Amino acid sequence: MGTLRHAEQLIFWVRDLTGPLPGPGEVPGMEFRPGTAEDAPALAIAMGPADGHLAAARMLTNRQVFVGLEGGRAVTYCWLSFQAEAIGEIEGVIRPAPDEAYIWDCQTIPERRGQGLYPVLLASIAHHLRDRGKRRIWSATTLANRSSQRGFEKAGFQRAGRLDCRRWLLFSSRRLQLEAGSSEEIRRALVAACG
Ligand SMILES: CC(C)(COP(=O)(O)OP(=O)(O)OC[C@H]1O[C@@H](n2cnc3c(N)ncnc32)[C@H](O)[C@@H]1OP(=O)(O)O)[C@@H](O)C(=O)NCCC(=O)NCCS
Repeated sequence: MGTLRHAEQLIFWVRDLTGPLPGPGEVPGMEFRPGTAEDAPALAIAMGPADGHLAAARMLTNRQVFVGLEGGRAVTYCWLSFQAEAIGEIEGVIRPAPDEAYIWDCQTIPERRGQGLYPVLLASIAHHLRDRGKRRIWSATTLANRSSQRGFEKAGFQRAGRLDCRRWLLFSSRRLQLEAGSSEEIRRALVAACG
């Protein structure tokens, strides 16, 4: 991070996959599906010059990508992890259980934002993961990222808790506030993630 003083506020989101899931919705001309190695060049363009090189590299790891494609062009995507994954914003680690997944590094390309693609992508991911036996999805947004929060809300994710992290020189503090009504299981998962 490199700064002497740093503060970050994260909202954790959870999607229970054990209950009814509304249909993900459709976008004419678009296909929402897990990405394959053949999609790496299209994803690299969508991820942009700074991050594009990560597309092919991540596909060689145990991460997966889920992508919304339009005529071969990747217009919206999220990365999925099923094992411990760094939460870059807070220098933390989230550890999904074997029947859970963590969604991170999502984007809709700038010229297609505000057209409702992200909620369809997130809902398609929920169906995909439920069909593969997953019971819960985790994700996190910064408190400032209202666009992403709206996407999660529209896709039926619930707020699980909020984490306030502060660091000044060698001192750091983390304060976790659970949403009212969060279960003990959610609390334990978040405490573990927030270390
Ligand atoms: C967050 C993001 C993925 C949402 O994708 P999207 O396909 O535009 O999602 P939606 O169309 O459902 O729009 C979600 C919200 O974005 C906001 N929005 C609308 N038009 C927008 C635009 N042109 N640019 C940015 N945000 C816009 C609105 O608040 C909208 O909610 P509303 O429809 O209730 O008003 C996208 O804005 C993005 O890629 N942002 C940069 C990367 C990022 O923040 N990733 C998420 C990290 S957790």
